Amino acid sequence: MIPPIVFITDSGWLLIALLVTTILLPPLVRPTALSRGLGLIFPDAKPYLLRLRPHYWLGYLIAALALAHGLAAITSGLSRGVDQLGLDFAVGALILLVAQLLIGRTLSEPWLTRRPELRRWHFRATLVLIILILGHLIFDSPTIRTILRYESQSPLVAEIFHRFISAA
Ligand code: HEM
Repeated sequence: MIPPIVFITDSGWLLIALLVTTILLPPLVRPTALSRGLGLIFPDAKPYLLRLRPHYWLGYLIAALALAHGLAAITSGLSRGVDQLGLDFAVGALILLVAQLLIGRTLSEPWLTRRPELRRWHFRATLVLIILILGHLIFDSPTIRTILRYESQSPLVAEIFHRFISAA
């Protein structure tokens, strides 16, 4: 059996990778400067909502994996040793994920009439989700906390860190 600490760490970083992929898929699948630049526009392609199917499945996978990640942290007792505010951010992110699934499910229906309004809510919820996850990482991730601690103690690491941030 995988030790809980390994599952929690690996699933956490996998969740970040899956979330980035999910967020990038819509602007890659519809005609945007990004998709045109990458040569991803095909005239004979299936309708947009059908091409977005991987986005839907990734959304469901993220929600299931985030739930397993949280349950593993609670049942193993590891959540007791971390910052409560970070855990509050994590719970908020989980609740918002469920809302995203409901909004996304409605958006995936071609007959929808309130599309622009609902699409804006789906986008806003994504921004709040990113903020909540960043909060959870800053308060609860040993990796991120170590980087931030080094950043505040070593002038060399601080300079590398700041160059990285300003280049990004
Ligand atoms: C982790 C969960 C999810 C995130 C972070 C997410 C994020 C996004 C983002 C950023 C967009 C682009 C919005 C825009 O262009 O303004 C989008 C579009 C879309 N998403 Fe999601 N999504 C998630 C889950 C889902 C799920 C589960 C479904 C469906 C079952 C779904 C259906 C859609 C549809 C249909 C669009 C296109 C809307 C349109 O352009 O009319 N999403 N999503």
